[in-house]
Amino acid sequence: MSGGLFRRSIADLIPYEPGKPIEEVQRELGLDRVVKLASNEGPFPPFPAAVEALERATRDLNRYPDGGVYALRTALAEHHGVALEEVIVGAGADGVIDLLSQATLDAGDEIVCGWPSFPSYVLDALKLGGVPRKVPLRDHVYDLDAMLAAVGPRTKLVYVCHPNNPTGTANGRDELLAFVERLPEHVLAVIDQAYFEYVDDPDYADGVAELFKQGRRVVVLRTFSKIYGLAGLRVGYGIAPKDVVTATSKVRRAFDVAATAQAAALASLGDEAELARRRALNRTGRDELDETLRAHGLEPAGPALGNFLFADVGDGAALFDRLLRQGVIVRPLASFGAPEAIRVTVGTPEENAFFAVCLGQVLSGVS
Ligand SMILES: Cc1ncc(COP(=O)(O)O)c(C=O)c1O
Repeated sequence: MSGGLFRRSIADLIPYEPGKPIEEVQRELGLDRVVKLASNEGPFPPFPAAVEALERATRDLNRYPDGGVYALRTALAEHHGVALEEVIVGAGADGVIDLLSQATLDAGDEIVCGWPSFPSYVLDALKLGGVPRKVPLRDHVYDLDAMLAAVGPRTKLVYVCHPNNPTGTANGRDELLAFVERLPEHVLAVIDQAYFEYVDDPDYADGVAELFKQGRRVVVLRTFSKIYGLAGLRVGYGIAPKDVVTATSKVRRAFDVAATAQAAALASLGDEAELARRRALNRTGRDELDETLRAHGLEPAGPALGNFLFADVGDGAALFDRLLRQGVIVRPLASFGAPEAIRVTVGTPEENAFFAVCLGQVLSGVS
C-alpha cells in the first residue's frame, strides 16, 4: 500500500528492537530475579552532584533548553583545553554520530569502519543513501591497514571505535596515530571513545590530547552514558574542528539536548576521584567476568579495555535465550555483525556472581 511513499534507502533497514523491560521479562518467565548485563551502561548511578542539578533543573522545565548548550560546551571546552567552537553536544554520542552523518553524507558517499562494530555508523549512513565499507576485524581488533585500503575518493567519514564495541579491544597508540597521519585530506576521522574513562592501558591514546590538539583533522567522541551513569538522559559530545561543528549546527534540531541532560552532565564534570574509583571497580569486575567465561571454556576477546567482554559462543542468540530464562539478559550480536557471539557488560559484584551461576547452569545443561 505504501508503494512510493518511503525512501528507498530505508527499505532494507530493520527497526531497532529494544530489549524488553526487566519487569516484563520477570513477569513473563516467572523469575524472582532478572539482571541486565546487556547495554554497557554499567552499574554506576549518576554522581550525587548530577542528581542535585537534575532536581534543580526540573523546576524550570516549562522553559525550552538552551539550544546552544552554552554552559556545558563552555565547561567541556575548559575541561579539554579547546575552544567553545570546537565542541558539539548531542543526544548521546549516538546523536553526534547522527549529526556528523547528516552534515557530511550525500547519497553514494562512503563511510569506512571496522566490523563487527557499533551499528550506528552503518545505519546512519544507510539512512542517507550512503555506502558503508565494513572492514573485517583482524583478531577482534580494527584492521587499520585494511581500512586505509578501503578509503576511496567518495569516502567522507572513517570511524575508529576505540575501544571497539562489541569486542572491547583497541589499537595501540603508535598504530592509531600513524593511521590518522596516513588518511587522505578529504576524509574526516571519527575516533569514538565512548568508553574512554574506563581505560587504564598506558598504550591507549587520548584522542583529544594526542590527535585533536596536535592539529589532526579528527572528531573525538565521548559520552556521559557510561561511567557517568547518565544513559537515560541522552547526552554525549564530540571535540571537532570548527567547520565540522558549524556544519553539524546546520542539521541539528533547535532543542536537541534536554535541559535536565545539560545540567546533569555539567555537574558530573571534574570528580576525578570518583572516576578513578569506578574505573578500578570496573577492572575488578571485568577480571571476574573474564575468569567466569574462561572457567566455562569460553575465550573472551582481548585485551578488553571497556566495561564489557565479547565471547564467541557458537550461536549467540541461542545462548542469549537460555541465559534469559535463568534471569540474565546479555547482548546477542547479530546486529553488530557477530551472530556467533555474545557481549556481557560488567555489573555489580552480586550481578557478576549471579551471571556466573546462571552461565554454569546453562552450560552444564542443568537448566
Ligand atoms: C562505541 C559507542 N559509541 C557510541 C555509543 C553511544 O552512546 P550514547 O549515545 O549513549 O552516548 C555507544 C553506546 O553503546 C558505543 O558503544
